[in-house]
Amino acid sequence: MLSTLEDLKERLQTALVNAFGPDFEGTDPILVPTANPKFGDFQANVAMSLAKPLKEQPRAIAAQIVEQLDVSDLCDPPEIAGPGFINLKLKTDYLEAQLKAMQADERLGVPKAKQPQKVIVDFSSPNIAKEMHVGNLRSTIIGDSIARILEFVGHDVLRLNHVGDWGTQFGMLITHLRDVCPEALKADSDVDIGDLVEFYKQAKQRFDQDEAFKEASRSAVVELQSGDESALRAWQVLCEQSRKAFQTIYDRLDISINERGESFYNPLLADVVKDLKTLALLEADQGAQVVFLEGFTNKAGKPLPLIVQKSDGGFNYATTDLAAIRYRIQRDEAERIIYITDAGQANHFAQVFQVAERAGWVPESVELTHVPFGVVKGEDGKKFKTRSGETVKLKALLDEAVERARQDLEQRIQAEDRDESEAFIQTVAEKVGIGAVKYADLSQNRISDYVFSFDKMLALQGNTAPYMLYAYVRVQGISRKGNIDFEHLDANAQIHLAAETELTLARHLLQLDEVIAEVARELFPNRLCQYLFELSQKFNQFYDRCSVLQAEEPQRTSRLLLCDLTARSLKLGLSLLGIQVLERM
Ligand code: ARG
Repeated sequence: MLSTLEDLKERLQTALVNAFGPDFEGTDPILVPTANPKFGDFQANVAMSLAKPLKEQPRAIAAQIVEQLDVSDLCDPPEIAGPGFINLKLKTDYLEAQLKAMQADERLGVPKAKQPQKVIVDFSSPNIAKEMHVGNLRSTIIGDSIARILEFVGHDVLRLNHVGDWGTQFGMLITHLRDVCPEALKADSDVDIGDLVEFYKQAKQRFDQDEAFKEASRSAVVELQSGDESALRAWQVLCEQSRKAFQTIYDRLDISINERGESFYNPLLADVVKDLKTLALLEADQGAQVVFLEGFTNKAGKPLPLIVQKSDGGFNYATTDLAAIRYRIQRDEAERIIYITDAGQANHFAQVFQVAERAGWVPESVELTHVPFGVVKGEDGKKFKTRSGETVKLKALLDEAVERARQDLEQRIQAEDRDESEAFIQTVAEKVGIGAVKYADLSQNRISDYVFSFDKMLALQGNTAPYMLYAYVRVQGISRKGNIDFEHLDANAQIHLAAETELTLARHLLQLDEVIAEVARELFPNRLCQYLFELSQKFNQFYDRCSVLQAEEPQRTSRLLLCDLTARSLKLGLSLLGIQVLERM
């Protein structure tokens, strides 16, 4: 009978309300977790809030409540502290029974959502022919983790890659491709046009310098938009090339995502504008078709327009997002749509959401959420760049993380005089390196700007992936040393909590369900990182103080159960961050 922390709070609330008696039925017991474990697990602050209306001392009120309060199945006898706090401390045998139930549960006590939703997570979304950079990396890592958490909680998640695969930049790319690599345009050619980023730079240079090229690029855009076959073919070749490059990154990061780029919505754009017109939301402004926004004004205090059709008749990023909202709600039947981009796009989303809502396209049952994140900075506090001032390429960045993880590992192997195979070194370095990059990103509050530091993310101490992975490895070491098969520990064995560090670890383990529920609701993966960090710390304190393999039965098995629960919680938590554990490192 594993109960979630939420259930537990509800039971305590009900017991408190019952103790107030019928005259105070609607009173909030103000039940909160205690700040200091010395005072137990929860405290009810209701006596202070009743003091004034009842014209009585809060301590006297608290005493009356405690007199009536029956929580004996869950808590030690309640105590009154300070001005009139009612302190509740969970009984040790309650904690033990909970842990035992958690241990028997494959999901470690994390319940599935009562009302599973259809959720779309729109993340990663790089632009074709441009390098995936650290900003895209943040979106990719944060989005993947949020998707994993929502999936684990039982929602039906559609992961969408809204790649920038349409726009006027394709004019110059197509024109350049026709000049330098015409053979790539033949049907079923598999010519590799090489590094697209380089290609983009060359095209841009010609565009800026060569009038004839510029003119040809403009007509190529028109051809593409009118569905000309040769232009479409060139566009496809470019997209395919980009796709391949992105896919190697996704594979390396172990990320799955479905491409549904901007071009997908092209056939739906004209209707967006037409329907806005029918709804009388559309106005002409300097030749463009716009919707004037509420709550967004320019310096003169005039409402800002959201352009949905440019004066040349073309549609834009906002039109596409409006069409996407309609499609996702009507066709995908999404109930929650989550967009992961840098904070710089906050206004874009607020404006697009507003227009969609005013148009009546967003039923009340649907929630649209922009999940913003801060800029990635270098250790000098400036925008993250290479030493020569260029933007850092994702592949190079991942390579360097892995290379540094490898160096650390090789040093350790040497110092410990171990003999390890090249295959082992390679696997560990890759997992630690990639894990460190992901964890460093996820462990920050995503709203803040984030300082990228290889040294910090790879440190064995602190809130880092290596520290977390190491705690897991430590438990696996116990199992190897003691020849323990965690999966087949005596099913009847009991958990006995006696030492302070055992109780502290136990209480923390039992918060896993709450943390995961919170991240699924509020979409801050750093809370899960913080939980795992504290779990590792509390485990290490327990393991430093309490002998496990040397302990006498029944303590020995009880402690092994705690080790196993810790390892499984770490493994689950890290997997929800997209990080794989290692058995040895
Ligand atoms: N491609 C865009 C960019 O790189 C991100 C797209 C985000 N998703 C969306 N539906 N607008 O900035």
